[in-house]
Amino acid sequence: MKKLIIANLKMNTKPSEFKDYAMTLATKAKLSKNSIVVCPPFTHLVAAREFLGGSKVAYGAQNISDEEKGSFTGEISASMIKDLGATYVILGHSDRRNKFKENDKLINKKIKTALANGLKVILCVGESLQVRESKQASAFVRKQIDDDLKGIYENELEGVVIAYEPIWAIGTGKNATNKDISKMVGVIRKEIETQFSAKAAQKAIVIYGGSITINNYKKIISNEDINGVLIGGASLDVENFSVIVRENY
Ligand code: 13P
Repeated sequence: MKKLIIANLKMNTKPSEFKDYAMTLATKAKLSKNSIVVCPPFTHLVAAREFLGGSKVAYGAQNISDEEKGSFTGEISASMIKDLGATYVILGHSDRRNKFKENDKLINKKIKTALANGLKVILCVGESLQVRESKQASAFVRKQIDDDLKGIYENELEGVVIAYEPIWAIGTGKNATNKDISKMVGVIRKEIETQFSAKAAQKAIVIYGGSITINNYKKIISNEDINGVLIGGASLDVENFSVIVRENY
């Protein structure tokens, strides 16, 4: 089964190091049957255009401003990354929600801005350990989906990938089990059905992220309930990431 495999490099690697990364990945991914996306820091996007442009590997950013242009010192707009050939943007990552205090209202506005500029959105949702332990995980994720996708039209959902990234599994070495993943993916699809339609739920692209490694990736990515994965730490080593993207699932 063809999978969507996305790398989130977060705030790691330097632009000067990205040329090698991109060239290696572009070469190794050539015969892959999967869809591959790399999201490096903004500063790497010029190199991404140069070394990934025209290859099998798409690329995107890890954030955008909710504003289109103007006096927003230090911000980067959707049209700027689009101009560099980016096709995706990660929004609602728990790093942004927790460390930069982004709320669902802001994330919703960013999603609309991204879609209006022709970018595809990788919308991250997921509960904390505390929420999970209080058995509120499903309700919490459902509310994130509702709030983040408010006012989005059903036909626009084609441009939205929903990444279930439980916070307790990110960078902790404690990946969710396939049972956990399938259960929450079911909850997410059901919510899409409620908010949009059964057809939208069936077509929705839902992926998982959290502590995927070179040792456990096969078992997780082969889960037929998910359309792919979002990988942090294990995507930093391009050799390992290349192994993961070349596999048939
Ligand atoms: P890790 O794969 O390092 O747990 O990170 C997951 C993640 O946050 C991807 O966006």
